[in-house]
Amino acid sequence: MVPTDGAQIAYERDGVNYLDRVAALFGAYKRRSVEFLKPFDGMHLLDAGCGAGDDARALAELAGPTGKVTGLDVSSEMIAVAKQRARNSVLPLNFIQGDICHINEDDAAFDRVRADRVFQHLHEPEQAMRELCRVTRPGGWIVVMDVDWSTLLVDAKPVELTQRILGYHFTRHANGAAGRSLYGLFKGVGLSDVEVVSETFLVTDAGLAFFLWGLDVTARDVVDRDVATRSEIDSWMAHIKARDQAGAFLSAITGFAVRAKKTT
Ligand SMILES: C[S@@+](CC[C@H](N)C(=O)[O-])C[C@H]1O[C@@H](n2cnc3c(N)ncnc32)[C@H](O)[C@@H]1O
Repeated sequence: MVPTDGAQIAYERDGVNYLDRVAALFGAYKRRSVEFLKPFDGMHLLDAGCGAGDDARALAELAGPTGKVTGLDVSSEMIAVAKQRARNSVLPLNFIQGDICHINEDDAAFDRVRADRVFQHLHEPEQAMRELCRVTRPGGWIVVMDVDWSTLLVDAKPVELTQRILGYHFTRHANGAAGRSLYGLFKGVGLSDVEVVSETFLVTDAGLAFFLWGLDVTARDVVDRDVATRSEIDSWMAHIKARDQAGAFLSAITGFAVRAKKTT
């Protein structure tokens, strides 16, 4: 599908298809993120910004029939897909439309709370963090994961032009610096046992990288936004295509996951 709105980013343009591709390619980090949350049988869990609900369903398997998992997402389309995908589940799963910055749940309602790749979309990440904290019970754990768009690299020349394009790409995200800021956000709300880990995701197929990082939209946008000239972007894309055909393309981005405990 050719995007019509240059302001759109990858998951907004391709929706569930995009989320499914990421999960298929990088499922290992998702499994590790679930372990990082320390979920147990019988727990009440919140997946904030749950998308199509696949992670919430995985959590429901761990929480079991005496637990409960709530998936929350601002998008009614995502909630509809999440409900549809969970229709055959016998486990206690609940999907609700709502905003992570104003969660319609009681204080201390959950034993475990997580958000995966949501903070990059937020204009008020501090407010979201306070809300995640509020709905977590004392003794409960919170895990938030996100990439930092400043860590996106593409092996292409000229390097100065590549950095100009990637710099513009960073600004297309509401909170492109989400990844680096998570640790500080956790510290800022007084959580204890704060741990941070990072992971770099490598892609050596140019078409896949442009799809995953949303660079295809950016490459179309840069001329209108006066970031690059038509001739610069045409030769940049031709250079990347040649590298790809030679099997020599590389791109990567780093994500961060932070875990902490709520003490009081
Ligand atoms: C990149 S997707 C990630 C979805 C899911 N966590 C996953 O890992 O597959 C980002 C999700 O955050 C949701 N989202 C964005 N802003 C939100 C907000 N303010 N409150 C709740 N969900 C939000 C989007 O609708 C989307 O489903």
